[in-house]
Amino acid sequence: MEKRKDAVTMELHIVCIPGDGIGPEIVREAKKVLEAVARVYGHKMIFEDILMGGASIDVHGVPLTEEAVTRARSAQAVLMGSIGGNTSTSPWYKLPPNLRPEAGLLAIRKELNLFANLRPAVLYDELAAACPLKEEISSAGFDMLIMRELTGGLYFGERRTVVENGVRKAVDTLTYDENEIRRIAIKGFDIAMKRRKKVTSVDKANVLDSSRLWRKVVEEVAAGYPEVVLEHMLVDNCAMQLVKDPAQFDVILTENMFGDILSDEASMVTGSIGMLASASLNDSKFGLYEPSHGSAPDIAGQDIANPIATVLSAAMMLRYSFDLDAEADAVETAVKQVLKDGYRTGDIMSPGCEQVGCSRMGDLLAERVN
Ligand code: IPM
Ligand code: MG
Repeated sequence: MEKRKDAVTMELHIVCIPGDGIGPEIVREAKKVLEAVARVYGHKMIFEDILMGGASIDVHGVPLTEEAVTRARSAQAVLMGSIGGNTSTSPWYKLPPNLRPEAGLLAIRKELNLFANLRPAVLYDELAAACPLKEEISSAGFDMLIMRELTGGLYFGERRTVVENGVRKAVDTLTYDENEIRRIAIKGFDIAMKRRKKVTSVDKANVLDSSRLWRKVVEEVAAGYPEVVLEHMLVDNCAMQLVKDPAQFDVILTENMFGDILSDEASMVTGSIGMLASASLNDSKFGLYEPSHGSAPDIAGQDIANPIATVLSAAMMLRYSFDLDAEADAVETAVKQVLKDGYRTGDIMSPGCEQVGCSRMGDLLAERVN
């Protein structure tokens, strides 16, 4: 039965990238949950699949085709599983770097201008036991959001490998202009306004020029948000603080490479990387949503992966790309309810709970959407 007869029926055009490894399984379950949302709230989901990563290499010889980009661009949002395989054994990694699975992901980020990467790291009450930190630290709980710049810096700077006087030499360039810094800082402060109103801007301003500019521009942006408390933190210290006192963080605002590293650290500190969602946004409502974890090729196809991070990514999609806050809340509540009811996938299993597979977890979540 439809929940809100008065509500406007929306058509949600979503391009899915099942990808590699466990990607197809977890995306299937997220679609199941989105279909449940559509039923309960009276919307219509229009799904379309495109290939990216290894799956695209196998069919087209390249990790992302122009056509796939065009189709992604024509949708309102993209829901991705995961891409890539085992880097030591998969034949994809014998290809030149620009033809490997990850190149597809970097290309779609750039093509769609997805400069703002949001990675929440939350300690769920029900999973607190999985947190690897000492209890005196974890008992304070934590709920942070890493806002990572995603289309600049070292990832997209000029690079080359040369031989000079018989010596091999590799160069990567780290460049940021003030506009790139400003737009991500604005996103960071905007989101802080909806949270606990604190921004920790992370840089290496004691060494890098790009970080010194980062700090200046972030301060200029901060002037427009008097309610938000801004602090600066050096990246090495931040790596330490994440394990020493994670509760201090609300929004961590940082550049591409630092964000890549710190977000892996933050996810590990939760002890449940299978639960962590992410969103990559451009300047409009368009976004690409994907779990923070990788493609786990070792457990692919066994129906044991945890689909919750992908389901929570779909919730972020409802919130940020479609402004469907009630629907996003309903999905997040379903996740909490499933945990309360004692169901777990293998990665988050604890004594006294019932272990279920990927597909059953999807069913349990879909049943709880209301
Ligand atoms: C991530 C991943 C990617 C990145 C890789 C797969 C290129 O580690 O999304 O964090 O470094 O951005
Ligand atoms: Mg990473």
